[in-house]
Amino acid sequence: MYTLQGFSTYFLILLCVILELSTTKDAHATSVFEAYDHYGPPAPQPQQTTLNVMEFGAVGDGKTDDSSAFESAWEAGCRNGSGSVTISAPSGKTFLVFPIQFGGPCQPYNITLEILGSIVAPPKTEWKSKTASSWLKFRGVEGLKVVGNGQGLVDGQGASWWGQGDDPRPTAMVFTDCRKVEIRGLKQINSPKFHLSITQSSNVSISSNHIIAPASSPNTDGIDLFSSTNVLIQNSTIQTGDDCIAIKGGTFNVTISEIACGPGHGISIGSLGQSGKYDQVEAIRVNNCTLNGTTNGVRIKTWQGGSGFARNIHFSNINFVAADRPVIIDQFYCPHKKCSNHTSGVKVSEVTYTGLVGTSSCKNATISFRCSNTVPCTNITLNGVDITSTDPRNSTTAICLNAYGTAQDTTSPVVDCLIK
Ligand SMILES: *[C@@H]1O[C@H](CO)[C@@H](O)[C@H](O)[C@H]1NC(C)=O
Ligand SMILES: *[C@@H]1O[C@H](CO)[C@@H](O)[C@H](O)[C@H]1NC(C)=O
Ligand SMILES: *[C@@H]1O[C@H](CO)[C@@H](O)[C@H](O)[C@H]1NC(C)=O
Ligand SMILES: *[C@@H]1O[C@H](CO)[C@@H](O)[C@H](O)[C@H]1NC(C)=O
Ligand SMILES: *[C@@H]1O[C@H](CO)[C@@H](O)[C@H](O)[C@H]1NC(C)=O
Ligand SMILES: *[C@@H]1O[C@H](CO)[C@@H](O)[C@H](O)[C@H]1NC(C)=O
Ligand SMILES: *[C@@H]1O[C@H](CO)[C@@H](O)[C@H](O)[C@H]1NC(C)=O
Ligand SMILES: *[C@@H]1O[C@H](CO)[C@@H](O)[C@H](O)[C@H]1NC(C)=O
Ligand SMILES: *[C@@H]1O[C@H](CO)[C@@H](O)[C@H](O)[C@H]1NC(C)=O
Ligand SMILES: *[C@@H]1O[C@H](CO)[C@@H](O)[C@H](O)[C@H]1NC(C)=O
Ligand SMILES: *[C@@H]1O[C@H](CO)[C@@H](O)[C@H](O)[C@H]1NC(C)=O
Repeated sequence: MYTLQGFSTYFLILLCVILELSTTKDAHATSVFEAYDHYGPPAPQPQQTTLNVMEFGAVGDGKTDDSSAFESAWEAGCRNGSGSVTISAPSGKTFLVFPIQFGGPCQPYNITLEILGSIVAPPKTEWKSKTASSWLKFRGVEGLKVVGNGQGLVDGQGASWWGQGDDPRPTAMVFTDCRKVEIRGLKQINSPKFHLSITQSSNVSISSNHIIAPASSPNTDGIDLFSSTNVLIQNSTIQTGDDCIAIKGGTFNVTISEIACGPGHGISIGSLGQSGKYDQVEAIRVNNCTLNGTTNGVRIKTWQGGSGFARNIHFSNINFVAADRPVIIDQFYCPHKKCSNHTSGVKVSEVTYTGLVGTSSCKNATISFRCSNTVPCTNITLNGVDITSTDPRNSTTAICLNAYGTAQDTTSPVVDCLIK
């Protein structure tokens, strides 16, 4: 019910808005809706549309190529023009999908890909291009959700790529140039290379995912972040053959929380500064994580000869279970053993370790800070660190090189090698 007064206010405001619009342009269009919201009848609820890929010709038998059904459903949903759209890949079906791009910008603003069944990649022999860098690619979409309700499966058929020499291998899911992204409740298995990569994107939330590949599979990182901002990764289990999470250059404001990692190579920042590159990483928090049976724990790795910085990095409440090398800063990163030392390097500073507990299989130093002569690490702080050996007869150790900072006296192992 609207009172006469309410109505006249409404028309008065509408009139003002129309007058204003007649003298200005599109920039003021939103104020029309604000006027409705505040003074007039409620704005119509955004339309909710669900598009089932089966209605776009998908077969879902795991053998038929369903790529064009996904393409058509995406085109219909992305160009629909009103409300918010869900594209659904229903449960009980297995969809064979070849490399595909889900491109934006989309109109409507919010678009959801709901995966309740399974999406599988073709085996390597059936890929038309042997140099494709990705399988499922999302580009330039704002307001995107990819959800699996804990049941949706994304299977990269990686075994057909592993052990096949140095051919470039694709990343299973890539989000590039996207904003306001939520990836939730997916199970991802056996990517040929990285499972999930976020590049040049912002405001990304990844949660309740489960990523699995064999411990022996090559470069099967769980999640990689490149040049992205405002990223939250939480409540996920990652068990792969390489880094559970890797944070690369150009990445700012990342929170990683409640992650169970392992087997795998741990949670890494870097590598940074490869081939003289200028890299920046800043404002990273890793908390409430368990690293179980990982080769490394929490690691910052930079190459000699690069430049830039990695700073304002906080690791807290980390539990190690038989991690080989729990805490590492390595400014001499050189996996291929053919590097020379340089006078430039990526500056590492303001790194805190608080509440790091558990066990190390300590085949190497438990805590290792190896920093450049010319670009030392500064402002390293350790508090509440208590890491013991899995073998009660062995002690844990810390080593430092050109590392400045402070450690609490009670830290175990004793870290008395930091320069004050
Ligand atoms: C677009 O959305 C409307 C509802 O908002 C729906 O009725 C229509 O079928 C959709 N069009 C396409 C092409 O999917
Ligand atoms: C898009 O999603 C956001 C957050 O979920 C919501 O606030 C907004 O109303 C949605 N917009 C449309 C057009 O559905
Ligand atoms: C992204 O998040 C930041 C910080 O929460 C916020 O200020 C900004 O408006 C968001 N951007 C978009 C496109 O939603
Ligand atoms: C965390 O993830 C699990 C599945 O891995 C899910 O069952 C649970 O609801 C999630 N918790 C929250 C708070 O989202
Ligand atoms: C950092 O990202 C979080 C989301 O993880 C967001 O809530 C927060 O506002 C961002 N901080 C800044 C300074 O943008
Ligand atoms: C970390 O876990 C503790 C104990 O479960 C909880 O109290 C705290 O809120 C968590 N912190 C974050 C940032 O998730
Ligand atoms: C660590 O992993 C082993 C082997 O997968 C498992 O048996 C054990 O329960 C895990 N421990 C913790 C604390 O997660
Ligand atoms: C580089 O410097 C480090 C630290 O001084 C040293 O351990 C390493 O052997 C040097 N590497 C080369 C290739 O000279
Ligand atoms: C304990 O120390 C012994 C002797 O150095 C070594 O052989 C063994 O591998 C160590 N075990 C663990 C779990 O670190
Ligand atoms: C770690 O230990 C392994 C095996 O014990 C050894 O081959 C390797 O050189 C060590 N790495 C470092 C950085 O100490
Ligand atoms: C870094 O350490 C120096 C010397 O220890 C100190 O003066 C400075 O305030 C610290 N900076 C930060 C950001 O913690």
